[in-house]
Amino acid sequence: MKKEDAVNLLRRAGCSERVIDHCIAVAELAGELAKRHNADYDLVTTAALLHDIGRAKTHGVDHAMAGAEIARDLDLDEKIVRIIERHIGAGIPADEAQKLGLPNKDYVPKTLEEKIVAHADNLVMGTKKVSIDEVLKNMQKILGKQHPAIQRMRELHAELYQ
Ligand SMILES: [Fe+2]
Repeated sequence: MKKEDAVNLLRRAGCSERVIDHCIAVAELAGELAKRHNADYDLVTTAALLHDIGRAKTHGVDHAMAGAEIARDLDLDEKIVRIIERHIGAGIPADEAQKLGLPNKDYVPKTLEEKIVAHADNLVMGTKKVSIDEVLKNMQKILGKQHPAIQRMRELHAELYQ
């Protein structure tokens, strides 16, 4: 899909310009990671552009599920749908998802393309690239030092930046 077509989908879904700018910044970093890891570049950049389409409906953690639903309604490739659905942090396993009030389902990125989009999003705040140390520090502040999401974030970063 061309970049402008993906951006049009975001706009038609009702995403703000701020969300759209963020998606474009995430797609740039995700594209770099896709090249570096020989991942599917078109899939990664298209899904990265669309990863926050659910923010047209909600800015809660459930924006990933809302986004997957919008993408399914748009008849987008199931690979794109899953990238959107699994892009929160370094992923949310079913037991934690349930505690967050999400449907009892595993939201951990599995494929290289799913991991790249999730992590490019982790490293872009707004339109600005941030360091993994900053990301981990923020997570510790919000979740506490022992939360398993922090270790998952470290591992995902190590996998993509070894
Ligand atoms: Fe998101």
